[in-house]
Amino acid sequence: GNSEGNSDGEEQVIELATSADYPPFESMNEDGEIVGFDIDIANAIADELGYELEINDMNFDGLIGALQSGRADMVMAGMSATEERSENVNFSTSYHSSGEMFVTNPDSDITSIEDLDGTTVGVQLGTIQEEGAQTLQEDYDFELQSMDKATNIIQELKTGRIDVGYLDKTVAEGYVEEQNLAGFDDPTEAAPGMAIAFPKDGDEEFYNEVNDLVEQFLEDGTIEELEEKWELNE
Ligand code: ARG
Repeated sequence: GNSEGNSDGEEQVIELATSADYPPFESMNEDGEIVGFDIDIANAIADELGYELEINDMNFDGLIGALQSGRADMVMAGMSATEERSENVNFSTSYHSSGEMFVTNPDSDITSIEDLDGTTVGVQLGTIQEEGAQTLQEDYDFELQSMDKATNIIQELKTGRIDVGYLDKTVAEGYVEEQNLAGFDDPTEAAPGMAIAFPKDGDEEFYNEVNDLVEQFLEDGTIEELEEKWELNE
């Protein structure tokens, strides 16, 4: 981790944990490299600070645990900075916001949350969508399937094992376009912005250095440029 310092002359490393199943935030390309909007920001941060970036791919559900057990210095995973998570991690200033969306097959007659009764909805384990769907179950009678990988949601949808996928809108829209799916916006409460997560009682200096850079990148147009590169603007 970064907190060991570099008095021994070794280059400092940022251990970034992510869940590379969420294009355009982070995904695995054909060469097996992890790429995306979050990864570009992380690289820009590492460059500015003169650190080496090491990326560890894991299930989204394991990211906060990785911070808590010291296996990661920071997490970037399109993670929404919720109050609940703030009890266990420190968040940077938010660097992007996205709505949420329900994705269906193109011929589906599910066109609003009013149609969810009797359907099977897929979400990713540990996400705000999983929690949101659980809340919706108080009013609608659908089956919920939580999956480790967001990519599985799209697969299961296309093979008809689930009827609806529930994802961040930026990600959902990409799939709708690329894979000819359909969908509708989430009419429930807006999701909090996405932010970098750090250990709760971690290295304060490191947190400040990175957070200052996030704010700088928001001001100097770096983030905006990357949003355009990864087509994040709705
Ligand atoms: N924004 C949502 C959340 O924070 C979903 C993020 C999923 N990220 C991922 N890399 N699979 O709960």
